[in-house]
Amino acid sequence: MSYWIDSHCHINEERYKKDFDNFLSIAKQNNVLRNNVICLNKEEYLYTLQKQQQYPFLDISFGYFPEDADHVTDEDLQYLESVVDSLVAVGEIGLDYHWDDTKKDVQKQLFIKQLEIAKRHNKPVIIHSRDAAKDTYDILKEYAGDKVLMHCFSESNEMMKQYLKLGYYISFSGVVTFNNATEPKKNAKEVPLDKMMIETDCPYLTPVPFRGQMNQTAYVRYVGEHIAQLKDMDPQQLMEQLMENYRRFFDEKD
Ligand code: NI
Repeated sequence: MSYWIDSHCHINEERYKKDFDNFLSIAKQNNVLRNNVICLNKEEYLYTLQKQQQYPFLDISFGYFPEDADHVTDEDLQYLESVVDSLVAVGEIGLDYHWDDTKKDVQKQLFIKQLEIAKRHNKPVIIHSRDAAKDTYDILKEYAGDKVLMHCFSESNEMMKQYLKLGYYISFSGVVTFNNATEPKKNAKEVPLDKMMIETDCPYLTPVPFRGQMNQTAYVRYVGEHIAQLKDMDPQQLMEQLMENYRRFFDEKD
């Protein structure tokens, strides 16, 4: 049986809590049957862990977000390390200079420490990088292990090629469906089939035809269908390829 997988979603956010079951049933109706839920702190992690009891197809990733770098303590990092075996990946972690680039050093330190935790425990990492392409690349090259997923990839075609050279995976979000998303479309077309993943990053970046509304994990289907069109292939075939990629990246231990 094949199905769509949302490799990055925030369905543990407050806005989904009241109708959590309903959002997952809409996902099921759209043949979205596996979800990687991203946790940014201990509270989100514990909530998601509890949901996983009821929905075993939920995967959990956990990492401290760059913009929270100021508040993350050594204790927080110890906590992450103490639960790391229950995770499919450490993330999302990385650098974000969009709103505030004054704390670059704090962000870099946190990023490196989390890459080291992942490496010690042989876990893949999920990378968030915004307006910080060069620093992200330099740090990954020096500190990351083999399994790196560039989430919601929105950097240049040139950067994508650099990451592919390192063997990294590239994930596309709803942005690729936007009319004006020339570079993401080009990237999605060019990325090797065995190096790609798709995601919603919900609640943000709602794909066409729901742009303007709140995003939800079911909509990863529209990201997949759009990319199938761009790559001129059968959606079913793409779906199977994406399942294989996801399993190779998250499930297989090297
Ligand atoms: Ni995210």
